Amino acid sequence: MRNGRGVTRPVRGLPETFLGALLLLLVTSGAALEVEQGFSIPAGGSCLTAECHTEQAKKKYIHAPARQGETCHQCHQQPEPDQHFFEPVAKGGDLCHICHEPTARGRVVHAPVMDGMCTACHDPHQSDHKGQLKRKAGPDLCLTCHARDGSGDQGSVHAPYQSGMCLNCHGPHFSDTVALLRGNYPDGLYAPYGPDTYFCFKCHGTDPFDEPRTLDATQFRNGNLNLHFRHVNRDKGRSCRACHHPHASVRAALIREQMPFGTAELAIGAFQKTETGGSCAPPCHQAIAYDRLQPAPVGMKVSPRPGQDASPEELQQVLEGGGDDEDW
Ligand code: HEC
Ligand code: HEC
Ligand code: HEC
Ligand code: HEC
Ligand code: HEC
Ligand code: HEC
Ligand code: HEC
Repeated sequence: MRNGRGVTRPVRGLPETFLGALLLLLVTSGAALEVEQGFSIPAGGSCLTAECHTEQAKKKYIHAPARQGETCHQCHQQPEPDQHFFEPVAKGGDLCHICHEPTARGRVVHAPVMDGMCTACHDPHQSDHKGQLKRKAGPDLCLTCHARDGSGDQGSVHAPYQSGMCLNCHGPHFSDTVALLRGNYPDGLYAPYGPDTYFCFKCHGTDPFDEPRTLDATQFRNGNLNLHFRHVNRDKGRSCRACHHPHASVRAALIREQMPFGTAELAIGAFQKTETGGSCAPPCHQAIAYDRLQPAPVGMKVSPRPGQDASPEELQQVLEGGGDDEDW
């Protein structure tokens, strides 16, 4: 069910976390069993009374079935009415799926969900965080297993990644889109263009991709020739993935160093950003430059370009206009 496309970075901490959790479970449930086996609950008593599990049901968010001593048995075996054991009534995800919709569906299923490790993220009893989460939703939770991309002191880091909004883009359990994404993001390097093709448009809008000529919708232009439009807005449009990393890059503007190509990675030659443009040497064509003020010559054969080139005066005006904006 998973897309079989391993992550490019090592998943940090999983074995330790997992073994740690397992060890803790063995230790706690072992100790618990020793003390609790055959232990009788006094008539009229509850698992939560004074001398028993008083630490339970105290935190801000209490899981509904763990709110009262009377319902603990919905998850913990209780063969006799006055006795209890800590053995859960079912294992892993099966325990949770007694009451909750199965979480392991969809084209892409998150590995810990697939493995029924619900309690890697959720506390079955109580929590300080919404959603019964063991850690705050976002990087605290996700970066226990995943390595952080980008150092932040060079290149570029995507603002929503920097601010830890993992769950704005990714679902925690499953998705029909690659990488558990919450919106569309076609597989591969090419996709026919449309206003719903990329979930990126939820935040960025489609303006930089809609018009063949522009003086302001994007910085990725040669004169007024919109290079975002030329690459992306066509039947065989280039995916954002061809050029941008979604999290971080050592290069400016999230430009990747490598482009995923099938199962291989092709190096994208040096990307240099300048005051008024940039240059790039992708595997797709020869090294090429773009400049917003003095359009760079293009040495290769290209398809017809709709629209009119802007005059040098018009281009100059845009830059001066930018200056006015700052004054304003
Ligand atoms: C939704 C299922 C569920 C309910 C309801 C539930 N438990 Fe648990 N409990 C578990 C699971 C699962 C574990 C194993 C620990 C883990 O995986 O984090 C556990 C472990 C425990 C442990 C071992 C130590 C610990 O905290 O991990 C105690 C003690 C315990 N439960 C007490 C209770 C009491 C008392 C109640 C009722 C107030 C209760 N449980 C209700 C699922 C549940
Ligand atoms: C005996 C039934 C039962 C079992 C078993 C059970 N839950 Fe729940 N769970 C509930 C109920 C009831 C709610 C409250 C639903 C609501 O408020 O809409 C809930 C709520 C939740 C929530 C949402 C909390 C929120 O703030 O929205 C999460 C997360 C959750 N459960 C996770 C789990 C996990 C993980 C397991 C397995 C360890 C599990 N549940 C097992 C009954 C159960
Ligand atoms: C990688 C961490 C992670 C794992 C593993 C995980 N969950 Fe969740 N779960 C979350 C997060 C984060 C949310 C809150 C989602 C949100 O706020 O959009 C959530 C929400 C939920 C909810 C609330 C309703 C909903 O779907 O939003 C339930 C129920 C739930 N999880 C059950 C489970 C069960 C059952 C499993 C195991 C099969 C599981 N979770 C495994 C992170 C996880
Ligand atoms: C308990 C450890 C654990 C936690 C916590 C965790 N992950 Fe994962 N995640 C994994 C593992 C293991 C994989 C699979 C790696 C592989 O296939 O090589 C994975 C894979 C992924 C993938 C790639 C899925 C695919 O098939 O393309 C995404 C995206 C992801 N995780 C996002 C998140 C987000 C967002 C969070 C926080 C809500 C999170 N993870 C928390 C263990 C975890
Ligand atoms: C702006 C949206 C966005 C945000 C925010 C975001 N991601 Fe992603 N992430 C993506 C996209 C898009 C991909 C898929 C890349 C591809 O397939 O080309 C991805 C891929 C992944 C993968 C699998 C591939 C890999 O790089 O290993 C993991 C794991 C992951 N993200 C974890 C996280 C975590 C953890 C956070 C929060 C710290 C986060 N993401 C924040 C968009 C985002
Ligand atoms: C052919 C490579 C390429 C593709 C494909 C591409 N971009 Fe870009 N993008 C760039 C370059 C180069 C820049 C940097 C322009 C500059 O600042 O000189 C850029 C800049 C951006 C910016 C900063 C604002 C702007 O427009 O200047 C955003 C946002 C952006 N791209 C989003 C996207 C999204 C979303 C997609 C997919 C729909 C996409 N890009 C596809 C090369 C590309
Ligand atoms: C949750 C909202 C959100 C989503 C979804 C999103 N972005 Fe962004 N992106 C931002 C914000 C905020 C900025 C910073 C804007 C600024 O500085 O003006 C940004 C900036 C960028 C930049 C410029 C980075 C730089 O350092 O110059 C690029 C390129 C970019 N995004 C590409 C993408 C791509 C590609 C996608 C889809 C895979 C995407 N974004 C999805 C919010 C988002």
